Amino acid sequence: MDTEDTEEFLLPRSQLANERLHAMIPGGAHTYAKGDDQYPENLAPVISHGRGAHVWDVDGNRYLEYGSGLRSVSLGHAHPRVIEAVRRELDRGSNFVRPSIVEVEAAELFLATVPTAEMVKFAKNGSDATTAAVRLARAVTGRPRVAICADHPFFSVDDWFIGTTPMSAGIPAATTELTVAFPYGDLAATEELLTRHQGQIACLILEPATHAEPPPSPQLLPQPSAVKPPQNGGDLTAGYLAGLRELADRHGCVLIFDEMITGFRWSEAGAQGLYGVVPDLSTFGKALGNGFAVSALAGRRELMERGGLRHSRDRVFLLSTTHGAETHSLAAAMAVLTTYVEEGITARLHALGERLAAGVRDAAAGMGVGDHIVVRGRASNLVFATLDENRQPSQQYRTLFLRQLLANGVLAPSFVVSSALSDADIDRTIDVVAQACAVYRKALDAADPTPWLGGRPVKPAFRRLA
Ligand SMILES: Cc1ncc(COP(=O)(O)O)c(C=O)c1O
Repeated sequence: MDTEDTEEFLLPRSQLANERLHAMIPGGAHTYAKGDDQYPENLAPVISHGRGAHVWDVDGNRYLEYGSGLRSVSLGHAHPRVIEAVRRELDRGSNFVRPSIVEVEAAELFLATVPTAEMVKFAKNGSDATTAAVRLARAVTGRPRVAICADHPFFSVDDWFIGTTPMSAGIPAATTELTVAFPYGDLAATEELLTRHQGQIACLILEPATHAEPPPSPQLLPQPSAVKPPQNGGDLTAGYLAGLRELADRHGCVLIFDEMITGFRWSEAGAQGLYGVVPDLSTFGKALGNGFAVSALAGRRELMERGGLRHSRDRVFLLSTTHGAETHSLAAAMAVLTTYVEEGITARLHALGERLAAGVRDAAAGMGVGDHIVVRGRASNLVFATLDENRQPSQQYRTLFLRQLLANGVLAPSFVVSSALSDADIDRTIDVVAQACAVYRKALDAADPTPWLGGRPVKPAFRRLA
């Protein structure tokens, strides 16, 4: 049986490095989502370095990379403006006994770029920020429960969220019981949840949008006061978000938008800037640092001040970390914000994503797998599904597809673009996808992808058993 040129494609040095990683680091990576279990067997490249939209593995192969840095490197690797800003700070010291002036400048620029927020506090990880938002919500409402959006995959490494996943080992049931869930886009179900736990839910936390856009909501009429005109020529399809804003207000709970991904792929001012619905608190990370560690909790002054010194209420321990204000990370964040605004990066991400989505859809249709390789999501944040003969999501077909892409120099666990990609890079990706689709078609015709897997299928990151 013809299994195409993937048989020739081997990664002996990466394989060895993966062994060493597993021998020393639980999971063989510092983020589960980077694990070799999510790649075809023995085809999980270990990276040597990256530049722009390309990365090189330790075997010397070069790949076009998608979803760089778990979506954090949205400008591409070693972006000149970011690197220059970081370099400038490196020689001036990273961390002092008192705040540095860089903290003033970074906060001013952040708040000017995300004008719906009144105060901001920086940290290193997205999870720090979401967990701080939850604590603040609990403190200001005096309520114990947290309502998370059930359809969104990840909010934090901390117990209030991880307790709800299949990897809840080590988390007391008493903690997990305080987290309840609501479905995205369904205001009636959310209202029912808020009523069932009347006076107990401190906050609603969700990504304002994912591959699903906020539906126009027929169920609740938005309060005009809660809806501000969209910025950046945004599309006000956010009936649902306005409805959620109204629900949160009516039930006295804090509305938190987790903008870790939507900031700044939806707009330079976040999804809140695009949809014109203002949350009480919002959290940013990922793209903010273009690979440097910086995250942010932003929001209404009245709430954020509870972590400060200018009030006479109980103080909230709000994001106080040794490395929170590392100067070169804040310099990176400032360079990112400036680059996004000055160079229209969100629009570029959209244009690249649209070209890619159209090309992949055409290629898949042309090879007769248009119903099996399905591209979804906002153009700036594309994901793909791999469906089997019965149009069911299939890890086996994902394995086949990833294997073909890798062998032809495309490292793409998603189709999330960076602005470093060129139109020619996108077109090359589409050619590689077309070749992969031809193999996919053969496997579908054989009704068995096994000969093309090269070993065990890829596995989902979140699962109970190893
Ligand atoms: C929506 C969302 N929120 C929060 C986080 C947590 O961010 P971090 O991994 O920086 O702690 C992630 C990370 O993937 C995320 O995608």
